[in-house]
Amino acid sequence: MSNAAVSAAPDALADLAETIAREAAALAVQRRAEGVEVADRKSSIADVVTAADREVEELIRRRIGEARPDDAFFGEESGAATGTSGLTWVVDPIDGTVNYLYGSPVYAVSIGVVRGVPDPSMWEPVAGVVIAPATGQVYRAVAGGVATLDGRPLSVSAPESLAETLVATGFGYTAERRWEQAAVLAGLVTEVRDVRRAGAAALDCCAVGAGTVDAYYERGINPWDMAAGSIVAAAAGADVRTWEVGDTRSFLFAAPSIVEDLATLVRTLEDDVLGS
Ligand code: IPD
Ligand code: CA
Repeated sequence: MSNAAVSAAPDALADLAETIAREAAALAVQRRAEGVEVADRKSSIADVVTAADREVEELIRRRIGEARPDDAFFGEESGAATGTSGLTWVVDPIDGTVNYLYGSPVYAVSIGVVRGVPDPSMWEPVAGVVIAPATGQVYRAVAGGVATLDGRPLSVSAPESLAETLVATGFGYTAERRWEQAAVLAGLVTEVRDVRRAGAAALDCCAVGAGTVDAYYERGINPWDMAAGSIVAAAAGADVRTWEVGDTRSFLFAAPSIVEDLATLVRTLEDDVLGS
């Protein structure tokens, strides 16, 4: 890639994100083929990081710096750097690290571009690319534009009721958070068609956009987990809801036909479990 600065037009940023994500995805596949081991643990023994997570993020960060030196950066593994352009790149080098460790194909390189600080309650979404390196699938969108999978337009599903709604969710890494999330899920699973736990939030968001699930909710996901995927989901027609739960936030990405009913159900269950 040349060192010439890339324009701040959303399509140019999406092109750049895709180019970088493709290179990062190839590196992730190569490192996976060579063998992956736990390099460190973060919030709990379950919350692992591999050398590949760090190396892939370093590559992404370097490429963004070469092409957009004035932009800010916020990544899962290497933290934040401020910029002067008003744009921030929000990056998860390998979302679904546990799947990656085990050799499951359900992991993603996730690169989002937002205007403002890397906080979903404050940023203005600009562009996002999520690549599943093991399958080569490329999800891409600019905010307010069309979401695509491998160049084909995506649109959300339209279930008629919660009983016909397939819901994806995920769990955090601490025992206390998981107990609370499981208790909420116990109240939800009897009300919906079924539940999926794939293990990569970025791909869960994209699955809502593609209509391969009807909704995805999770409490406590991080900005890098959902920056790019939420832009894909929203551009495909998903409603995105977020609300405070104690000292965390819950996020819901859902087909508009059931978003109200599902938001009410999840919030009621969270209030019951957390006693607020
Ligand atoms: C995790 C995955 C998982 C979600 C967790 C995330 P990581 O990200 O997206 O599906 O349930 O909340 O932390 O640790 O694999 O990058
Ligand atoms: Ca993640």
